[in-house]
Amino acid sequence: MSDAIAKTAQKAGTTAVQRCILPACAAQFGIREQIYVCPRCGGPLEIEIPLELLKSVPDLRERWQARAASHAPRDRSGVWRFRETLPFDTDAPVVTLFEGNTPLYDAPRSAKYAGLTALRLKHQGCNPTASFKDTGMTTAVTQAKLLGARTVVCASTGNTAASLAAYAARAELQCAILLPQGQISPAKLAQSMDYGAIVCEIAGNFDDCMRLISELSDVPSIYIANSINPFRIEGQKTVAFELLEQCGWRVPDHVVVPGGNMGNSSALGKGFDEMLRLGLIDRLPKISVIQAEGSAPLARLFAGLKPSQISADAALPDEIAPIANPRTLATAIRIGAPVSWKKALRAVLRTHGSIITVTEQEIADAKAIIGRDGIGCEPASATTVAGIRKLTAANKIRAGESVVAVLTGNVLKDPDYASNYHRGTLSFESATAEGTAKTVPISGAFRNAPEKVAANKGAILKSLETRR
Ligand code: F0G
Repeated sequence: MSDAIAKTAQKAGTTAVQRCILPACAAQFGIREQIYVCPRCGGPLEIEIPLELLKSVPDLRERWQARAASHAPRDRSGVWRFRETLPFDTDAPVVTLFEGNTPLYDAPRSAKYAGLTALRLKHQGCNPTASFKDTGMTTAVTQAKLLGARTVVCASTGNTAASLAAYAARAELQCAILLPQGQISPAKLAQSMDYGAIVCEIAGNFDDCMRLISELSDVPSIYIANSINPFRIEGQKTVAFELLEQCGWRVPDHVVVPGGNMGNSSALGKGFDEMLRLGLIDRLPKISVIQAEGSAPLARLFAGLKPSQISADAALPDEIAPIANPRTLATAIRIGAPVSWKKALRAVLRTHGSIITVTEQEIADAKAIIGRDGIGCEPASATTVAGIRKLTAANKIRAGESVVAVLTGNVLKDPDYASNYHRGTLSFESATAEGTAKTVPISGAFRNAPEKVAANKGAILKSLETRR
């Protein structure tokens, strides 16, 4: 590649700006300004990469692909091998654990269960800390280094915390995480402790932790690593590029993701949009977001939109009604006031996707079916297959269409959930109309409990025979 082309590619990243996404404001700020929301109107910020510069770079796709076979640290990262699209210089102090480059699996049993001919699962739980958060943390923590931050902090339902703790350790930064006490899977909590983070268990829920984060955001030595931070989204958007690469750049008809704080859906929307603007694809997949029934503020808002508000360029609503006491056993997405809802809604509207809810029982059974394909995921990830099943039944997805579900976390993130499902001891505290809690047992349609077998060959063969 000529020097001129290399410089052009490099310039695209470094001449990026931070921009308010609200069309009425659209204020722009430098990429090294430590801001998280628009200082002018409070709207969400995103990074604008001058893609026109990149359009003149030939063979971008081949270049990205070739890096996957290299052993240079930045090439080995499934995020940084797409660095022309990232807002950093070539000499940025990249903090990487070789994230990304996750598998795309065929899942025939899940496909059949969901009413599809075929279904592919993009397993972001195969990242270094076992969730999709790593793809965004590599860019956010690199930005923290560039800004000279002393401490990185986040609010979390567990995975963001584990990821930030690991990347902060790599970067030798102090890390503090705010977690809702008693609402985090022990495995995720253990990760954060192991990576040396200061673990603050807050007496409140995730939304309370997020409120505290916004109060901390004016302390200059502290850098916030939640997905409200647009540098997180920059890393996370690369999953769209990698997925397209794995699909031979043939755009799937549908990409389906779980929705919690809404960073992931926002990032996918941005990633596909950038590939379209670069001319590397000629259409967008429909992006659909699935929420757990008891924690579904955006699905509720979506269901209440007027037909005139459901269009690619409709003005976004100003407000979302938060859920005061969100509930779901999929603790990763137990969120009542998602910070990135506007960006996520924009992505869904632009691509003509849907936002729907699934029940606790549907999540549990979908998770077990994914397991039967030999693919383990945590409960939040399974909302996707449960949601696809509903969308297929409602004719929003047709059986022969190409569908990709994004699995966000590994099964070992929440082994208690899986074990309780299979042993028949899983239950959910649901809210009653009177505002009290009621325990609802979750039955295991695909239950697979261990059995006690005598220590002899005959007993084992008998067990195999009866389970045939
Ligand atoms: N799936 C998993 C496994 C998650 O951990 C999360 C979010 C989501 C889905 C939802 O993604 O927030 O981008 O819409 N976990 C955050 C955390 C909130 O703190 O770990 P989102």
